[in-house]
Amino acid sequence: MAEYREVQSFPIAPRLTQNPKPHVNDSTYKSDHAASLKNPDEFWGKLAREMLSWDVPFRTVRAGGFENGDVAWFPEGQLNASYNCVDRWAYKNPDKVAIIYEADEPGNHEEVTYGQLLVQVSQLANALKKMGVKKGDSVIIYLPMCPQAIVSLLACARIGAVHSVVFAGFSSDSLRDRTVDCEARVVITTDEGKRGGRTIATKSIVDAALKECPKVEHVIVVKRTGNESVQLQKGRDQWWGDVCSRERAFCPPVPVNSEDPLFILYTSGSTGKPKGVVHSTAGYLLGTALTVKHVFDVHENDKFACMADVGWITGHSYICYGPLMNGVTTLVFESTPVYPTASRYWDVVDKHKITQFYTAPTSIRLLRRLGEEHVNKADLSSLRVIGSVGEPINPEAWEWYNKHVGREQCAIVDTYWQTETGSIIITPLPGATKTKPGSATNPFWGIDPVLLDPQTGKEVTGNEVEGVLAIRNPWPSMARTVFNDHQRYLETYLHPYRGYYFTGDGAARDKDGYIWIKGRVDDVLNVSGHRLSTAEIESALISHPGVAEAAVVAMPDETTGQAICAYVTMKGDYDGATDDSLTKELVLVIRKNIGPFATPKRIIVAPDLPKTRSGKIMRRILRKIASNEGDQLGDVSSLADPSIVDKIKELTAKK
Ligand code: PRX
Repeated sequence: MAEYREVQSFPIAPRLTQNPKPHVNDSTYKSDHAASLKNPDEFWGKLAREMLSWDVPFRTVRAGGFENGDVAWFPEGQLNASYNCVDRWAYKNPDKVAIIYEADEPGNHEEVTYGQLLVQVSQLANALKKMGVKKGDSVIIYLPMCPQAIVSLLACARIGAVHSVVFAGFSSDSLRDRTVDCEARVVITTDEGKRGGRTIATKSIVDAALKECPKVEHVIVVKRTGNESVQLQKGRDQWWGDVCSRERAFCPPVPVNSEDPLFILYTSGSTGKPKGVVHSTAGYLLGTALTVKHVFDVHENDKFACMADVGWITGHSYICYGPLMNGVTTLVFESTPVYPTASRYWDVVDKHKITQFYTAPTSIRLLRRLGEEHVNKADLSSLRVIGSVGEPINPEAWEWYNKHVGREQCAIVDTYWQTETGSIIITPLPGATKTKPGSATNPFWGIDPVLLDPQTGKEVTGNEVEGVLAIRNPWPSMARTVFNDHQRYLETYLHPYRGYYFTGDGAARDKDGYIWIKGRVDDVLNVSGHRLSTAEIESALISHPGVAEAAVVAMPDETTGQAICAYVTMKGDYDGATDDSLTKELVLVIRKNIGPFATPKRIIVAPDLPKTRSGKIMRRILRKIASNEGDQLGDVSSLADPSIVDKIKELTAKK
């Protein structure tokens, strides 16, 4: 625990001691957190009435529990997510800007007001209805970052349809699998995408995927680049503009039950098959609304910039739902932190006078490496709160963020959460928490985190201890099931340690009770904040005709946090490519099966893999070798062939 002991602690940031006054201070945080655990019905009932608009009020606050995985919040209530995110603000102040769209090319930006957003959401919702989409039906959204992505999410929600966004970096195979799994009949995409000056052939990826999705009847295509070579398939595809312009500019929102699903989002687990994580409506909206308000200390005229992609949970919760639930302005950013230069983020903050900025440690590390001059020249005085998410942030990156972006004036929030938690669960609060670089600090309201001994499952109490991180009690925005596989939900999250939600992360609690997230304890990798399963990459590799076995492990990387290191053995009779061209083939296989973001940093062709006598691959040994800790392997004499270890070390050392 020595590494957690002596770090510097940072007081409340100067800008949070001025106007506007932060919503929470140290004593209100503590008393509200205690109340949220002691009287959850009273605590959450009050907030749900205050923060959500209901068509039918709820009577019960909480029902069910972890044992059967039948958690339900506000069960008799009915509401509509798009009404809550759009109509409420559009009626009050239609000219307020809801979305700032900052396009890939600097200088191109558009604003969408709440009034315009209501019209756009209504028109698409009406069009979807005409295509036969009904309450409970799934719609696949395969869109890069554009305002239409937000409109699509909300249009689905308006008619009670369930959106399932597939990150536009996924390959056609991944898109196909997700489209088939959630039984979608409609897909929304663009002709092409633009990112970092490059063009992404989204429509042709959709076309390839849909060859094997017989249920899909309609494709709506947003015209982004206008490339004339992009073809529409007659009878199936229509331009977004044509589809929407025919429709009436108002669509009545359909009230849904609090527990009706709002969306499915596929995420990687410890098996090869991604899970369709299902979020419900009321609890999710409450969690995202509340965390935007308090974790980012958002006030009425704020402009919130979350630089994630809408294809991941961070984009769902902190580009779309959370900011719009608070009626503030949200940024949709199409580009990258380094396009056209490494000052792009800061130019955007400066240009739009962004007040909250939220990104991942991998971007912070990249920008830190590229030099201070890019950030120092921008006027960042509008910022109050800057956040980090997705992976542990190393203290050096935290301090750089604080000094050069926050200028030692802003609150830094290292926010810990997951696709499954729906919203932030462990985090500092800007006006309340003294921060320590590298620690996500304290639980948000309603969260009762515990550390468990991984072997015995017993709670590890006291401070200066480590264990696996679990949550003792249900909270409103937690995922309710895995689509069409409730058993998997139970087995993954609720049954490993009975009575708790299991996060899959290891964590430590320091002498002050602060929580430090240490990373996954399962077979999930975190590359640039993107979540990948080793099994998924391994099964892609094995689909190559020459590959006999594959084992994928994480290796540390200065920029991306973790990188992928793949070990493969070839079939005895394989006499195909040489090592070099084989590596290229294997990269292609992964890009086709998953997507470019899953490309391994190293692929090592080995004569064999370290295995037990019963034939189990010892990934632990490979992990150590890939992490340059090959001298800490301990006793390997029980392996079927101990001599393989040295051979693999040698191959790994060779660049
Ligand atoms: O390992 C944790 C890491 O990201 C995982 C969740 O990934 P995903 O579902 O893709 O959601 C990412 C965005 C919420 C977690 O199990 N993680 C997330 N935030 C942090 C983190 N690790 C350390 N510190 C964080 N702040």
